[in-house]
Amino acid sequence: MKTISDPRKMSSFSLSARKKGLKLGFVPTMGALHEGHIALVRKAKKTSDIVVVSIFVNPIQFGPKEDYKKYPRNPKKDAAMLEKENVDILFYPSAGKMFPEGFSSFVEVGGPDKGLCGASRPGHFRGVATVVAKLFNIVMPEKAFFGAKDFQQQAVIKKMVKDLDMSVDIVTVKTVREKDGLARSSRNAYLSKAQRSQAPVIYRSLRLASKMIKAGETNAAKVTAAARKHILKGLDFKIDYVSIVDPETMEPQKTIKRPALIAAAAYLGKTRLIDNILV
Ligand code: PAJ
Repeated sequence: MKTISDPRKMSSFSLSARKKGLKLGFVPTMGALHEGHIALVRKAKKTSDIVVVSIFVNPIQFGPKEDYKKYPRNPKKDAAMLEKENVDILFYPSAGKMFPEGFSSFVEVGGPDKGLCGASRPGHFRGVATVVAKLFNIVMPEKAFFGAKDFQQQAVIKKMVKDLDMSVDIVTVKTVREKDGLARSSRNAYLSKAQRSQAPVIYRSLRLASKMIKAGETNAAKVTAAARKHILKGLDFKIDYVSIVDPETMEPQKTIKRPALIAAAAYLGKTRLIDNILV
């Protein structure tokens, strides 16, 4: 595996690979890699000639009170994991190279970036869309891989690609979970032992909601109330949202119409966990 940190070097590598007719697959990440990220890498390996993984903790997608500074960073362990997966290129730019002084252009997607995490994390998806647009311009991939765990994020990226005529295919990869159902996340590292044992309650509440819908319940308020009640059985949870939305537009459904996305975000102490199920 080759590590490239200069965006211009990354671009010239990609240009010459594409000239040779090689298919480039790209997995953008913020590092602190786990099995969820690795699932994206394996999917990329299967469908591409060259796989580029980026690690960049993107400052502009964190709010002023969020965890940018303490976000877990394990560059050595990450590189070893990617090496093991036979990744071709690790793109590892610095914040100064990505956002030099005077940077002032942003991508505002609108539509699916409005509700859910968009409502509770103002500016988050603007930061995500901007950095992903930059990464696409630098890496010039044919396909890019995103996780269903961050369902709204992949919907925002798909909308950006469509609206701005970007020539990249967005592939969504199913959520990888721990044995007890907890969605793998770099932020799980923040959880204390006691919190970790409560954390799977979120997924269980989504499963409960999904069962109600599959059994014919169409009243979204009823389903989300049942899911909320279940989450609050876990002692330390503070719910941010439990919502049922259209999986493409992210617009709330009052009367459930499948396909529907049940999405939840909740705090365990200071740690914000998100999860979702598509029904
Ligand atoms: P990060 O949280 O590192 O996630 C990188 C990619 O891994 C995302 O597409 C995310 O959805 C996926 N992923 C994370 N956990 C997963 C799991 N348990 N199962 C499947 N996929 C999972 O998402 C970001 O970084 C950033 O916002 C980024 C897109 C890199 C822009 O900065």
